[in-house]
Amino acid sequence: MKPYSNKSGFFHILLLVAIVLYAPVNLQATECPQARNTLKAPVEYLEKKNPLRKEPRHIKKGKVLAHIKAKPLACKQCHGMAGNGEGPMSLRMNPKPRNFTCDLTMDGISDGQLFWIIKNGSKGTSMPAYKHLPDKKIWQLIHYIRSLNSSIS
Ligand code: HEC
Repeated sequence: MKPYSNKSGFFHILLLVAIVLYAPVNLQATECPQARNTLKAPVEYLEKKNPLRKEPRHIKKGKVLAHIKAKPLACKQCHGMAGNGEGPMSLRMNPKPRNFTCDLTMDGISDGQLFWIIKNGSKGTSMPAYKHLPDKKIWQLIHYIRSLNSSIS
C-alpha cells in the first residue's frame, strides 16, 4: 500500500460524491415483492416445465436474446440489464416491467406462466408478444430469467 497522499484523498471525495448522486436513483428501485396483475395462463400452459436442462449454454443464449437479439425489442430495454425491471424504457410505465431479481415474486410464477406471457404478451400493458420466437428460445430466455433469482441455485 502507498502512504496516504493528496491524490487518494481526492478519490475518496470523488467516491463520496458518486454515492450521494447515486442514492436517489437507488431509492426508486422496483418494489419487491412486486404486485402482479398479469392474466393467468390457461391450465395446459401453467403446468409446463422447462424442457431444456439448466445448462450454461442455454442460460447464455437466453442472455444474448434478452440483451441484444430479441425482436422487436430486446427485453433489457424495459426489464433492464440486470433484470430488475428498471430498463431505460420503463420509467413512465404503469404497470412496471417484472423485476426478475425479486425472489419473493418470481418464486411463485411457474415456467409455463412465464412462457405464455413471453409468447403472447400482456394485453393492455407494454409487455409485447414474442409470437415469432421458437419455443426453444423462449425456454432459454426463461433459464436466463431464473438465473437472476438468487434463491434458486
Ligand atoms: C416495451 C417493454 C417491455 C419489453 C421490451 C419486454 N417486456 Fe416483459 N414486461 C413488461 C411489462 C410492462 C410487464 C408487466 C406486465 C403486467 O404486469 O401485466 C412485463 C412482464 C413480463 C413478465 C411477467 C409475467 C408474469 O406473469 O408475471 C415476463 C416473464 C416478461 N415480461 C418477460 C419478458 C421477456 C423475456 C422479454 C424479451 C423477450 C420482455 N419481457 C420484453 C415490459 C416489457
